[in-house]
Order: sequence, then structure tokens, then C-alpha cells
Amino acid sequence: MAKLRLKYYPEQVLLQKAKKVTTFDSSVRKLANDMLETMYDENGVGLAAPQVGVSKRIMVIDVSGEDDPNEPIVFINPQIVEKDGSLVGLEGCLSFPGVFFEVRRANRILVKYQNLAGKDVKLQAEGDLLCRAIQHEIDHLDGVLFVDRLSRLKRELFKRWFKKHGNLEHG
Ligand code: NI
Repeated sequence: MAKLRLKYYPEQVLLQKAKKVTTFDSSVRKLANDMLETMYDENGVGLAAPQVGVSKRIMVIDVSGEDDPNEPIVFINPQIVEKDGSLVGLEGCLSFPGVFFEVRRANRILVKYQNLAGKDVKLQAEGDLLCRAIQHEIDHLDGVLFVDRLSRLKRELFKRWFKKHGNLEHG
């Protein structure tokens, strides 16, 4: 495994729609493992391939607690097929070090994806960190960032702040 270099806002790859994965080979497995290593190293709970410069529909999530065994989930070509309700919660993003916002997300989702073997999987998540993380990471695959989910006013405030303080890479 190898740690990958993170991409930070506003790098172009973060703003693009990622491509569907059609072959499930060792290169996909290696990418997923490297993404997990990178995510754990950065103390993140989720990471999408565009955040390491790869425009493919792959994302990894692990919401297990610090003292619990790791419970990584690799999602390939994920799609939300049902969603209900809404809930506001605090979010961060590895592509925006030190930046946190309250974001409104669906409260319950049913997500369909493929695992590393290319097998179809369905997963339901409700209210918790996993539900929020899945929505945040799927947005990354569509080139949508959590600041795009803010009200217009808050988004403008962020952009103004970013212009002044810029360069998120140095936190
Ligand atoms: Ni993110």
C-alpha cells in the first residue's frame, strides 16, 4: 500500500464528474487500498478518488470509532436510489483542511453500489455519520463539494474568506 497525495480545493479534478468503473481488476483494488491508507493517515472518515487526483467513481468510508477495529467499506459506482427527510450536521473534508460547515443532508438513504468483486450491494443508512458520509462522498464523484451545499450567503462568505486566506494545502 502507498499513501497518495491529496488534492485541495479548488483543484480542477475536484470539480469534474468522475467516470464509471467498468473493469474490476487489481488496479482498482490497489487504488482502493491506497485510498484507505491515505484516509486513515489523515484521520478522515471518507475519501473519494477525485480527492487523490483519480477521476473514477470509487470512494471509501470507515466510520468505526478510534478504539474499534477498522470497518472499511469500498463503494464503486454508488448511486442513491431512495432518500427521505433531512438533517443538519457538521462536516469537514480532507480537501478543505481546517474548514467545517453545517450541511443539510437526507436523513435516510438507500444506496446501491458495486464492491471490489463487481458484485451489486445495497446498503441502508439512517441519521448517523455513515448516512452523511455516503452523501458527501457521492457528491465528490459528481464534482459537487460541501461548500456547494451551503446557502448562497454562506457560500459567498466562504469564497470571500478563501480569497483572503487561500492556499488550503498549508492548513
Ligand atoms: Ni470531502
